[in-house]
Amino acid sequence: MLVLLKPSYEELSREAARIVAITVKNNPSVTLGLATGSTTLGMYRELVRRHEEERLDFSKVTTFNLDEYLGLPAEHPQSFHRFMGEHFFNHVNMNPDKIHIPDGTLGGDYEEYCRLYEEAIREAGGIDLQILGIGRNGHIGFNEPTSSFGSRTRLKVLTSETIEDNRKFFAAGEEMPECAVTMGIGTILEARKILLLATGAAKAETVAEAIEGPITASVTASCLQLHPDATFVIDEAAAEKLKQREYYRRVMELTARFTPNRLS
Ligand code: GLP
Repeated sequence: MLVLLKPSYEELSREAARIVAITVKNNPSVTLGLATGSTTLGMYRELVRRHEEERLDFSKVTTFNLDEYLGLPAEHPQSFHRFMGEHFFNHVNMNPDKIHIPDGTLGGDYEEYCRLYEEAIREAGGIDLQILGIGRNGHIGFNEPTSSFGSRTRLKVLTSETIEDNRKFFAAGEEMPECAVTMGIGTILEARKILLLATGAAKAETVAEAIEGPITASVTASCLQLHPDATFVIDEAAAEKLKQREYYRRVMELTARFTPNRLS
């Protein structure tokens, strides 16, 4: 696991976008796994800038989003469909046929739908680079504490902590979705490379648990310790509770000196 410490949210966002951009340039037909959440906003902004100013080309890229609230139509202001359109897809040259976001509005058979979502990922050749944020309770996607490390795309009931955390994005008095459809931990761990972004002091505790704590389904992001190519890109505030902070700094310095490709 590589831990990249960045002095600010802006630098964290630039670094994440740089890694995505290099991945897309190296393989224009790459398959990306995408995340939503306020943490990812700076990265998407920078990717849009690179598209506009540096002609970063997304026309052959395939994307799969991690999750969507159950019951929210695509046009709902808080749906992840809307988030992705507003902050990324509407501003770059993605082929709409290559965009996949779980549908939260199917009334019926989610089991079959989720199976097909997994199949579509496989048919696309698997996810080359998966972007993740992290919930305050350590969730990735909407894999709440106690989610199985073998889990696949499915419906999940959200914890009250997650509902409270995300309430700020909804209109006052509006009913919050209590469930979501999310890729599973097993699905996420199959990505070839994983990039988790975290910012701010409110995430410091859970980031430390994910990176340095025991591997446990109680902090689902800790599963990334099992992944051969997972990178955490975090700012100073989110890194505050890491015991090995100085070690990560030395790893960054020496890796940049001896194996610069590992950082790109
Ligand atoms: C939601 C999403 C997660 C995201 C998390 C953190 O719960 N399902 O994928 O990582 O929010 O969001 P934020 O970046 O706003 O803290």
